[in-house]
Amino acid sequence: MRERIAIGSSILVIAVLVALSAWFAASQNPRRPEVALTAPATAAEAVSTADADSASGRLVFQAQGCERCHSVQGSGSPRSPLDGVGARRSQAELTAWTVAEPAVLDSLSPSVARAKARYRELPANELDDLIRYLARLVTPR
Ligand code: HEC
Repeated sequence: MRERIAIGSSILVIAVLVALSAWFAASQNPRRPEVALTAPATAAEAVSTADADSASGRLVFQAQGCERCHSVQGSGSPRSPLDGVGARRSQAELTAWTVAEPAVLDSLSPSVARAKARYRELPANELDDLIRYLARLVTPR
């Protein structure tokens, strides 16, 4: 009987200790604030944020029909491959070509320029992700 009480109370003590340490751990490690997503604190975080942006940029690329005229790694129209474009062009140039800014109009037919002009209406974050995706296409065909 006495042994049982001893075992029972030590289990109780252990349970209390586990609960206390769980509470302590939770109180000392507050959830990381959302802001960390927009302002990466470490290089590793910055890399994974860039990966995520460029992955969503690829989705914008596909959703906006860029593949009607362009291809990347063999997927899309072979007319105008964009492999390696990130190594050839600055982000400002990539934007200019994507949305047909005046600086590049001389090199585009009116119908292509019209198609590209529509991309000026993309939400800013989608255009950002798209350009980041293009900037990372540094491997030539
Ligand atoms: C209707 C056809 C068409 C569509 C749709 C189109 N483009 Fe283009 N794009 C062109 C043509 C034509 C050029 C001229 C240069 C070339 O042939 O590569 C060009 C050039 C570019 C360039 C510069 C290429 C280089 O080699 O310097 C980029 C970057 C680009 N487009 C991005 C995009 C993106 C991103 C989209 C989708 C949001 C898109 N384009 C949609 C026809 C198109």
